[in-house]
Amino acid sequence: MARTALVTGGSRGIGAAISKALKDAGYQVAATYAGNDEAAAKFTEETGIKTYKWNAADYAASKAGIEQVETDLGPIDVIVANAGITRDAPFHKMTPETWHEVIDTNLTGVFNTVHPVWPGMRERGFGRVIVISSINGQKGQFGQVNYAATKAGDLGMVKSLAQEGAAKGITANAICPGYIATEMVMAVPEKVREAIIGQIPVGRLGEPEEIARCVVFLASDDAGFINGSTITANGGQHFV
Ligand code: CAA
Repeated sequence: MARTALVTGGSRGIGAAISKALKDAGYQVAATYAGNDEAAAKFTEETGIKTYKWNAADYAASKAGIEQVETDLGPIDVIVANAGITRDAPFHKMTPETWHEVIDTNLTGVFNTVHPVWPGMRERGFGRVIVISSINGQKGQFGQVNYAATKAGDLGMVKSLAQEGAAKGITANAICPGYIATEMVMAVPEKVREAIIGQIPVGRLGEPEEIARCVVFLASDDAGFINGSTITANGGQHFV
């Protein structure tokens, strides 16, 4: 029987490419989104992938949403915690509000996404947890004290989950995309973006599909011995 995968933030950007790649690889896929109904409807129309609306920052909403997905599609075998936001500003201009927004979505949101599926994965003796972190969690970034803190935190969560899940057939891994051609990166001022591309040895932004292929691999049986690791996909911009 086809395995079931849930991708948070799965109807746009890197998440949309992940949802589509998992579907193409034979998974039953559900994608979540937080607010953009129009984009989600278009995504479902184009791909046939069902979307669910909830805010990853809200534990009760995540738990209830996940229960609904499991009622519709069956137990979740593969969870991709991808939903993330930016509220970029130099630290002296950052506010407690934008700090908390980013922490709540990018870090607590991973807890909210993984925690409800974890007991079922343990019971069934199989699970794949894949967290989309970032190059900026590895190297830091001017203007992203909040975002970099969450993405570094995600890596600590994954390494700990990897140790707790191993005996129950669950692996937990992270992917650290570099700068990928999505709306999020296109929102960076053009001059700044051009400067960033200048720091990428392959000389271009990444494509969302290049991250999606990493996810498909980590989700597969072939990746069973890979646990607690980080796949870095950044065109050579930063070596860990
Ligand atoms: N390094 C050093 N100094 C920098 C700098 C940098 N990278 N960027 C800006 N500065 C300097 C400016 O030159 C300016 O200096 P002066 O005051 O002496 O002129 C000072 O910092 C303040 O700059 P601004 O007044 O322009 O600051 P701002 O309030 O407009 O904010 C910013 C600027 C929002 C941080 C903007 O530079 C920016 O968006 N930077 C990009 C941040 C980034 O890379 N975000 C990634 C988004 S994509 C993503 O997150 C996905 C992923 O995982 C990779």
